Amino acid sequence: MQLLDGKLTSETLKDEIAVEVQKIIANGGKKPHLAAILVGNDGASETYVNAKVKACKKVGFDSTLVRLDADVSEEELLNEVRKINEDPEIDGLIVQLPLPKHISEIKVTETIVPEKDVDGFHPVNLGRMTLNLPTFLPATPAGILELLDRYDIETSGKHCVVIGRSHIVGSPMSILMARNTKVGNCTVTLTHSRTTNLEEISRSADILIVALGKPEFVTADMVKEGAVIVDVGITRVKSDKTKSGWKLKGDVAFDEVAPKCSFITPVPGGVGPMTIASLLKNTLISAQK
Ligand code: GUN
Repeated sequence: MQLLDGKLTSETLKDEIAVEVQKIIANGGKKPHLAAILVGNDGASETYVNAKVKACKKVGFDSTLVRLDADVSEEELLNEVRKINEDPEIDGLIVQLPLPKHISEIKVTETIVPEKDVDGFHPVNLGRMTLNLPTFLPATPAGILELLDRYDIETSGKHCVVIGRSHIVGSPMSILMARNTKVGNCTVTLTHSRTTNLEEISRSADILIVALGKPEFVTADMVKEGAVIVDVGITRVKSDKTKSGWKLKGDVAFDEVAPKCSFITPVPGGVGPMTIASLLKNTLISAQK
């Protein structure tokens, strides 16, 4: 078994991005600039947004964090988005999800101009992704592709099983793995909460991508010998062993699954850092335009 080390790979990717930033500046250009909007004070969202802002600093980007109260009106949030849409200094905008229930995520997503939608969630960008046209790929799926690519994992002709059909990960991931691209050309099965024979399908996966947000859902009996496992889950569970009082758990029971597979991503240090690096890459591409 070999670890798919997202932490290490993301550091390489960030170093490459930092070099590009230096080139832009040497040519008299301005630093790429990412704006993030965080609504409310959900602990996990706060951690992720802070990590994104910190990563911007690391590669030499400018960043702006807009914090809004949990009871902000939808219209006020949309106005913040419109302001950033029109700000020529800002290259990319993300609104951290999930949003409070009184705000429509799709309305917010559709208000971000596709040219600054570095999360790749806008319907135009998802459509372009499906058609294999140049676009911003959603950061988590893009990070997974990058990781599979950099570890030279053969995907062509393989059976890829995706567990979870979220708009952010499972759904775009299933489309990307089936595209006629270097990392792609898989036969893809997208499974979800209504799938009846999930364990049987999961056991037939050469590449298993798990993104349903249920800690240790995938057990050893659900995995084929030699499979490649990508664990997108990152759930905070209470722990009396850590200072913070919680620890992160993936969707895969790592200790029992790892010995069976050829490659596996750890949690933390697998997909999470790759997501952030992909977001930076998208912002760099936006700035270069
Ligand atoms: N919430 C969980 N993942 C993501 C992500 O990739 N982007 C945004 N904006 N919110 C998220």
